[in-house]
Amino acid sequence: MQALDVSPDVIGRTTCGTLRAEHVGEQVTLKGWVNRRRDLGGLIFIDLRDRFGITQVVFNPQVEADAHEAGSGLRNEYVIAVTGVVNHRPEGTENTRMATGQIELVVYDVEILNEAKTPPFYINEEVDVDESLRLKHRYLDLRTARMQRNILLRYQIVKAIRGYLDARGFVDVETPLLIKSTPEGARDFLVPSSGFPGSFYALPQSPQQLKQLLMVAGLDRYFQIARCFRDEAQRADRQPEFTQLDLEMTFVDENDIMSLIEQLYIELTTAWSDKSIQQVPFPRLSYQESMDRFGNDRPDLRFGLEIQDVSAALADSEFKVFAETIEAGGQVRAIVIPGCAGYTRREIDAVTEIAKQAGAKGLTTVQVNDEGVRSPIAKFLSETAIEALTIGIGAEIGDVVLIVADQPAVVAKTLSALRDEFGRRLDLADPDTIAYCWVDQFPLLEWEEEGNRWDATHNPFSGYYAEDEHLLDTDPGAVRAKQYDLVGNGNELGGGSVRIHNRARQERIFALMGHEVEDQAERFGAILDALEYGAPPHGGIAMGIDRFVALLAGESSIRDVIAFPKNQRGVDLMFQAPAAVAVDQLNDLGLEVQELEVEAPISSS
Ligand code: AMO
Ligand code: AMP
Repeated sequence: MQALDVSPDVIGRTTCGTLRAEHVGEQVTLKGWVNRRRDLGGLIFIDLRDRFGITQVVFNPQVEADAHEAGSGLRNEYVIAVTGVVNHRPEGTENTRMATGQIELVVYDVEILNEAKTPPFYINEEVDVDESLRLKHRYLDLRTARMQRNILLRYQIVKAIRGYLDARGFVDVETPLLIKSTPEGARDFLVPSSGFPGSFYALPQSPQQLKQLLMVAGLDRYFQIARCFRDEAQRADRQPEFTQLDLEMTFVDENDIMSLIEQLYIELTTAWSDKSIQQVPFPRLSYQESMDRFGNDRPDLRFGLEIQDVSAALADSEFKVFAETIEAGGQVRAIVIPGCAGYTRREIDAVTEIAKQAGAKGLTTVQVNDEGVRSPIAKFLSETAIEALTIGIGAEIGDVVLIVADQPAVVAKTLSALRDEFGRRLDLADPDTIAYCWVDQFPLLEWEEEGNRWDATHNPFSGYYAEDEHLLDTDPGAVRAKQYDLVGNGNELGGGSVRIHNRARQERIFALMGHEVEDQAERFGAILDALEYGAPPHGGIAMGIDRFVALLAGESSIRDVIAFPKNQRGVDLMFQAPAAVAVDQLNDLGLEVQELEVEAPISSS
């Protein structure tokens, strides 16, 4: 991994990371925070810290009594300036794990630049601290080595992205944050304005339409490190505002965009992490293949436990659940879990519970032992069926086979959850490896029962394979989008598509999505009009920066790679936002707040 070295000449002072043996004898002044203080009666040692490192500072009463006296009053996190002479540490006390571990600064003058209250948590140690406390005092949390590392890593990655794209002719264009509300999947954050009471701007969920309009405008290659806003339920990998590397290109196909991003992600991973990439070029899976083999569209390819179809062998099984499910258009699928044949009844029940949580009606287990197989449905299974369920799918003695029968979506969801669970339990995913893959050929549309209409699986502007166009009339759910997602270790890291660049085709998709003609003009007028003025073929992608940095940093929550994140309820605990505003402010906007019985943002957090 590359290091972040900054020359002291650039900083304009000697930093706490600068001094080495070659500086012995020099007189210097260091400024920083008291990281730790040890009072050995005679000598006082201080670890002085700044962003660049830590230097040991010694107060010796024999050298300077006044400084030693002042040194005894210092506490953790005081900001001080110390002047002294660089000394070799006495033999045997060098610290090889510290860059400055050969030397120490023997102080003869100390100035307290600011005192500090005792911090609410340790800053100089990696200990588990309640996240609410960290977020409330984020400026202190950001002082910890872990957070400094993460924030600097993020900066380096964004800087490298800019360099990479700049070298390839991309132009960084800012797009507005006050735009018009359009349906894009999540709920919009709305912004009222005093000039137009009753009307609202919306914050962009992404610059999707704007970047397409930049292609119509002839910019050819656009990118932006873009802030996006989505008013949706929060999770470890979701924030209400987050950052994308957003880009769009003219006269390209899917492969051009995937290669560009693949090369970038290989370079970033190699330069900025110690993790190795499992496979290059990144494997490509169609959506269907991913669903069939892993039960989801963001597979963690670091381990196997692949799903296998056993429907054929069980179609005329005596076990009614299987036969009836297949009869009703469902499937019977299984995964083989190595080494768990010895599970007790209770352990099997717990696994069944996971399957039920995921939506399955039940779970059948087949435990493969020395003496034969153990299964609650053994008596219904013929010799051939048992063979198909064990040897036939690679189960060996000591393994347990987990079988689910249901409609495809339920089978996929359940076996995906079980696969993830056992990946974790059996420690199958190497934390030092990143398995990237592309998932493509997603369905363009999915049927939305509630609205009685089709909805875009990703984005209403995604193009589709020309050979599938006829299916828009007969079987819209079977049309494959020219859509691709980059996945890393089970995370969706980004996604994009080649777009529709023709008004009639775009209108047709909107119509399938249930938008009447007037409605289309009202909501999407600008982009539809633009498609009639020489819109070039174009496509693009957006990569989640927060998720990628978290992956490289080995953090499980994106909150740990964002300087000032919201908590899991979307609340800013430091500024205590969202918050009520003055009635005057509301009056200016022509707004009135209903009395709602909801939990206040701050109270319970
Ligand atoms: P999409 O909605 O898939 O695509 O977003 C792209 C990537 O952004 C990241 N992401 C998030 N990260 C943190 N918090 C969130 N709430 C969040 N939501 C999404 C994910 C995701 O893969 N305009 C299209 C892209 C395009 O077609 O060009 C878009 O926004 O890593
Ligand atoms: P039951 O008839 O519910 O007592 O179930 C008998 C056995 O079949 C149990 O081992 C169940 O867990 C299993 N089973 C029931 N429904 C399913 C299903 N949809 N898929 C797989 N196994 C099932």
